[in-house]
Amino acid sequence: MTAERLVVVSNRLPVVLKRSGSDTWQITPGSGGLVTAMGPVLRNRGGMWIGWPGLASEDCPDEESLGRLLTEGGSRSGYALKYVYLDRDEIDRYYYGFANEILWPLFHDLFPQCNFDPVYWEAYEGVNCKFARCVVEHAGKNDYVWVHDYHLILVARELRRMGLGHRIGFFLHVPFPPLDIFLKLPWRFQILEALLEYDLIGFQTVRDRRNFIGCIRALLGYKVKGRGQIGSIIMNDREVHVGAFPISIDFKEFSDLARSGEVADQAWIVHANLPKMQLILGVDRLDYTKGIPHRLLAFDNALTRYPELRRKVTLIQVVVPSRREVEEYEKLKQEIERLVGEINGKYTEVGWSPIHYIFHTLTRTELVAYYRTCEIALITPLKDGMNLVAKEYCASSIEDNGVLILSEFAGAAAQLYQDALLVNPYDRQGVADAIYKAFSMNEEQRRERMRRLRNQIRRHDIIDWVDSFLRAGIAKGLDDFPLTEFFVPRQ
Ligand code: UDP
Ligand code: G6P
Repeated sequence: MTAERLVVVSNRLPVVLKRSGSDTWQITPGSGGLVTAMGPVLRNRGGMWIGWPGLASEDCPDEESLGRLLTEGGSRSGYALKYVYLDRDEIDRYYYGFANEILWPLFHDLFPQCNFDPVYWEAYEGVNCKFARCVVEHAGKNDYVWVHDYHLILVARELRRMGLGHRIGFFLHVPFPPLDIFLKLPWRFQILEALLEYDLIGFQTVRDRRNFIGCIRALLGYKVKGRGQIGSIIMNDREVHVGAFPISIDFKEFSDLARSGEVADQAWIVHANLPKMQLILGVDRLDYTKGIPHRLLAFDNALTRYPELRRKVTLIQVVVPSRREVEEYEKLKQEIERLVGEINGKYTEVGWSPIHYIFHTLTRTELVAYYRTCEIALITPLKDGMNLVAKEYCASSIEDNGVLILSEFAGAAAQLYQDALLVNPYDRQGVADAIYKAFSMNEEQRRERMRRLRNQIRRHDIIDWVDSFLRAGIAKGLDDFPLTEFFVPRQ
């Protein structure tokens, strides 16, 4: 019997393919919370990751070269990468369409932004079926199939139709909306019934789990056992486990990198160029759920109401390009740039600009250097499944002197609420007051709060998250999946 492996299935592979010459390609790490979190889980476990390589099949290398590139990329990480080819039409309708113009806004409570085009649903079903076929082709019969996120809700349904009897787990990285919002979805029954084809469904917070259970009770009428973190839905012939498993980060990796010489060098450059200044950091994918315009307006409000902040603080706002083909995202970029220009125009003096705006992806070293250097993190999403940036900031704050300002509507707030400064991102004055409070906070208070934040994240790191999910799903922990010969023990 072959050893049991973890087979992770997500829309995106953890790598991005880039053309580096007319016929040469480069593989670089992907971005986004799902990829950052799952990378360390599979590393060296000899498991498998199934996903889309991020380019339309028309623009990809031929299948043989792609297979070779991914084999090389996979062996560097110690697990196999298997791809699902999607053509431009599928990407438009399934990824940009159903996933990002329907489920993404709906699950973030922004249903007026949804475009319920029925063509998108057909493509969503078709692509989920393609992913299921790839699982059937590559997964062994003892493997644990773990499907991730809103793009692939129908995979278990398709696998069951293909006769696969495996245990299949699902984790939703984004929030699950309350009943009155979920009801707007024309395919609400299909989505709920498809979710019940999994054996275990994981959510980020108890609130998401409660919302889901509310929808199941109201729309399908099933009974539910248990409350709080975990419980089950009782169906005629089986039970589906439903739990809250707040995702986390590889604390040690961020903390170690923050201590490294390369990060210290970069951090020194940032400090040297912005001397005698408290730096406030925002890091977000370009996304309307992240509340970037609201944050800029709150910063403007802080500079007006607390003039002593001028020349004493600089906001470094990093925006990572994302989903550029969706019109809303393009409009958002323009709005952000207009606001940055307006605020800088209003306050800039010789030798000081209030906002440094960066619109590109950072390397991990640059990102951690900003985390380590900036005295304040300003993380104010309107709604967010978890927000890993908040946890990464704390893990990298190795001098224990950073202050975390965090939105109440980020999943991370459920764990970090005691020591972060919690804000309502819609309350411009409230956020401005929090900025001033963070700026004025004394050394001792900063250290106490940050120490507790770091301890909380250290205790509940990514391995703890995987363990709790796997134990609920198959009564196993990550250590039960053997390491491969590529394993390099941590120092
Ligand atoms: N990130 C990245 N490159 C960057 C900036 C950020 O890969 O230039 C990563 C960051 O380390 C974090 C992820 O993107 O792990 C963002 O995750 P989060 O949960 O905060 O939000 P998401 O983008 O998943 O909505
Ligand atoms: C969020 C989603 C992930 C997604 C990531 C980046 O974290 O939960 O599933 O991968 O955003 O978005 P993208 O559309 O670029 O994959």
